[in-house]
Amino acid sequence: MLVNGTHYRTVWMGDDGASVEIIDQRKLPWAFEIATLRTTQDACQAIADMWVRGAGCIGAVAGHGMFLAAIECQNADVSGEAFDKMFKEKAMKLRAARPTAVNLAWAVDRVLGVVNLVQDTKEKVNLARDTAVLIADEDAEWCRKIGENGLSIIKSISDKKSENEPVNILTHCNAGWLAFTDHGSATAPIYAAHDAGIPVHVWVDETRPRNQGARLTAWELGQHGVPHTVVVDNVGGHLMQHGMVDMVITGTDRTSYTGDVANKIGTYLKALAAKDNDVPFYVALPSSTFDWNVRDGISEIPIEQRDGGEVRFIGGVEPGDSVAAERELNVVAEGSPVANFAFDVTPARLVTGLITERGVCEANESSILELFPEKLAKN
Ligand code: MRU
Repeated sequence: MLVNGTHYRTVWMGDDGASVEIIDQRKLPWAFEIATLRTTQDACQAIADMWVRGAGCIGAVAGHGMFLAAIECQNADVSGEAFDKMFKEKAMKLRAARPTAVNLAWAVDRVLGVVNLVQDTKEKVNLARDTAVLIADEDAEWCRKIGENGLSIIKSISDKKSENEPVNILTHCNAGWLAFTDHGSATAPIYAAHDAGIPVHVWVDETRPRNQGARLTAWELGQHGVPHTVVVDNVGGHLMQHGMVDMVITGTDRTSYTGDVANKIGTYLKALAAKDNDVPFYVALPSSTFDWNVRDGISEIPIEQRDGGEVRFIGGVEPGDSVAAERELNVVAEGSPVANFAFDVTPARLVTGLITERGVCEANESSILELFPEKLAKN
């Protein structure tokens, strides 16, 4: 996507052939900064401390982290089985950086599997690099296709409206291009509709505690010129009750093969409100976000609990100040304990449809497997 007229992805290989560049999301929207990762530990930290975040982006950075891991093994002068052992240890550290987004394990295992197939050290490193780049390229292409597939849903809603009346779409958290390599999942159909000249307006949930909606989604949409309004997290029900939302589109961090959707905390409440008000609730995801081993999302998907400081403090800057002046303000009564559940699971019965790179399906096992028949044998 374009940032001040220049095309960026969220992660790419460094020019020196031994580093990885990422957009450092912690500074947005006040500053657009690039960070360089040089070690597996750097990649683990970038994922765990949310320099990068969002399922697809985490997966792509983890894939690139595996390339850094391969270089480290090469530099340690190990080969053959010793390389594989050291490489696996580093892979497990990356895999453990965050628990909920399945793209992380998917990307790590994918690089691991390919690298283990060959013996020669140089070939291992080259394969790690090529697979990381492939993961990022695929992620961008899949999100582009999600945009194409979701566009028809937005268009059919728009066709029923009077000319120039926008389609009002509510979204939660940031499932935009920052959360992937490019385009985004939930935002891809929105960008596609906007680019096709269909009037859209996005209600952006601020998404406490880290405010990914207010900080990241709003910034992205603004960069692309998409009309939007930021609302606090509790407004969605009211908007839906008053006919101010035509559809909800969210992303997901892990979706069971039966259609249960783990996403940023608060998504479930939006789905309940949508159901009660007959507002279609869509979830957009590349196939890398399906967990083909999970049947029951509510009992089987691990929900990350993060540091309470994210609840207790809100970061921000005084109007007109630069990111250097960012401050953390305490918003909780002194001495009160806090809890920070980062995700929840929306049961399939509340989901109108899943927008994937292969098309739109219902959130149930048979409909999902119809789109991904090669997974049939495993279930
Ligand atoms: O904790 P985060 O910011 O990594 O949360 C994940 C998300 O970005 C959201 O849940 C998003 O809606 C789905 S990930 C594309």
